[in-house]
Amino acid sequence: MGVEIRVEGLTKSFGRQTIWQDVSLTVPAGEISVLLGPSGTGKSVFLKSLVGLLKPDRGHIWIGDRDLPRLPEAQLYETRKLFGVLFQDGALFGSMNVYDNVAFPLREHTKKSESEVRQIVMNNLDLVGLLGAEKKLPGEISGGMKKRAGLARALVLDPEILLVDEPDSGLDPVRTSYLNQTFVDLISEINATLLIVTHDINTARTVPDNIGLLFRRELVMFGPREMLLSSEEPVVRQFLNARKVGPIGMSEEKDVSELEAEAKLGDDPGKLPPIPPQLMTSNGRVRRGQHAPGAWCAAHGVTPPPGSFIDDLGRNWVEEWPRYVASMAPAGGPPPAAPGGMPPGGPGGPGGQFPGNPPPGQYGAGAGY
Ligand SMILES: Nc1ncnc2c1ncn2[C@@H]1O[C@H](COP(=O)(O)OP(=O)(O)OP(=O)(O)O)[C@@H](O)[C@H]1O
Ligand SMILES: [Mg+2]
Repeated sequence: MGVEIRVEGLTKSFGRQTIWQDVSLTVPAGEISVLLGPSGTGKSVFLKSLVGLLKPDRGHIWIGDRDLPRLPEAQLYETRKLFGVLFQDGALFGSMNVYDNVAFPLREHTKKSESEVRQIVMNNLDLVGLLGAEKKLPGEISGGMKKRAGLARALVLDPEILLVDEPDSGLDPVRTSYLNQTFVDLISEINATLLIVTHDINTARTVPDNIGLLFRRELVMFGPREMLLSSEEPVVRQFLNARKVGPIGMSEEKDVSELEAEAKLGDDPGKLPPIPPQLMTSNGRVRRGQHAPGAWCAAHGVTPPPGSFIDDLGRNWVEEWPRYVASMAPAGGPPPAAPGGMPPGGPGGPGGQFPGNPPPGQYGAGAGY
């Protein structure tokens, strides 16, 4: 069920420009993690380093007992098969239709027959809601559909680790919500380790199990969602709450005069907003990597901001959680009793009312994002 990535003391520079240094973190197996950071802080460079496309200057990337930067070419090639990657620009082949783009890794890396390839490609296109678009060229589909085609391609080799770089850039908020739901549902199904780079604060606040933040050539923090959402660390607090007040300026770092002006005006970063409940699977199953709401805060003696974990209907999910888990089959277990992906109890059941969930089964081909 997914593979852990352990990064130790990773440093990368291009010529004399250090992109980031001494980055250490563990991306837990089977969990969803988000990496944030201002534009140009090296998030894409980080993903490319994880998959072995860029070589770090120093440090280790452990996948099991294999240290990626030190693997001989043949072993690196084998290890790369554990990864599915959705690059920032989608990286589809412009002259190939959607079907052939998605089939490409299977034809390149496996000896599967064309009928086996067809079955896998169609399954994956169905998963991302692109059935019916097989014959279209990348130039003939929307930006969101390109992202989904790239995602289907990243999934065909059954990756243990899925890296996605800004899957939501260029998408409208509704389509971003559907895409987020796709990720949560997908991970509950395939149990892969997922690392998403995004600029979307709502995604960062509600989707992942863990959040990391790159700033000023450092990894400022990486840890459970609740740890970062309740953090008073100025950079984390400013970024996760999309505030102007704080150390981050227009060109990454505020200068002294800007900070002094802010202090003179008496600007203060304000109270932390509540920690929202996490986005659930649309069939109401609990993901294997999912943590109980409030568990991190309770274990670390942190009182979350008032109103945390309370949904639109006023239910406190710290209290609801044990009942919810008891009523739900875990991911990979038997499917819920009710038909059509509806949670037990139907649309009025706890899964159907879980905050942030679009109605189940809504990201089919017709959704068009
Ligand atoms: N192959 C390369 N050669 C030289 N410099 C590079 C290369 N790739 C990236 N860079 C530089 O590394 C820095 C980080 O780039 P990167 O694309 O990782 O930023 P990012 O955090 O992904 O930004 P964004 O949020 O805009 O996508 C930039 O200054 C960029 O110019
Ligand atoms: Mg980038």
